[in-house]
Amino acid sequence: MKIIIKDSAADASAAVADILLRQIIQKPESVLGLPTGGTPLGVYARVREAYQHGRGSFAAVTTFNLDEYIGLAADDPASYAHYMSENLFAHVNIDASRTHIPSGMAVDPDIEAARYESLITAYGGIDLMLLGLGRNAHIGFNEPGSAHGSRTRRVSLTPSTIEANAGYFAPGARQPSHAITMGIGTILECRKIVVLATGPEKAEAVAASVNGPSSDDVPGSALMRHHDTTIVLDKAAARDLERSKIRELEA
Ligand code: PGA
Repeated sequence: MKIIIKDSAADASAAVADILLRQIIQKPESVLGLPTGGTPLGVYARVREAYQHGRGSFAAVTTFNLDEYIGLAADDPASYAHYMSENLFAHVNIDASRTHIPSGMAVDPDIEAARYESLITAYGGIDLMLLGLGRNAHIGFNEPGSAHGSRTRRVSLTPSTIEANAGYFAPGARQPSHAITMGIGTILECRKIVVLATGPEKAEAVAASVNGPSSDDVPGSALMRHHDTTIVLDKAAARDLERSKIRELEA
């Protein structure tokens, strides 16, 4: 695991956007794994801006999103399909048929999860996986207790995650309690992983994920097992890391 610590969330987002852009410039037919949530908004804004200035093409890129809520249709404003369209896909030259997100409306979520997992394999796996980190150290919607070998599957969300995401739902809108998420084992098979965490509310999850021990109770700690993970932080999210640990991991 390597660490990059920036002064601000904006600088950390710019660093991650740069990693994504370099990936698609070096390998135009890259397969990307993409996250949603508040953290990557700055990354997608930077990528859109760079694209408008002629940097990077998505013409041959394939994407797989990490997760989707069960029960939300793609056009629901709170769905991750809608988020991706708003924040990235509608603004770049990506072929919609190459953008993949689990279907929240599948009749059988277990079959949908298995289909999604096979599709990732059929595309030859994911070159670069971008991840956020939940306040409880979840990655994707792999909540504490998820096995590090878990595959894409239907999961229940914890009360803390439901509360953290409540702000994305309109007042009175029904908030789903289940999702389909790539598994931790699925994530660990990606060739390169970049995690972005910003703000003091992530400091504890960052410290538990980076310091170890690696445990099912801390999904982010599974990333220590991966040969090419970079964690990009702002100073606030790095607050609880020891100086010696930072020096050891600084990229
Ligand atoms: P957030 O979520 O970016 O909205 O804080 C991160 C995550 O749950 O992975």
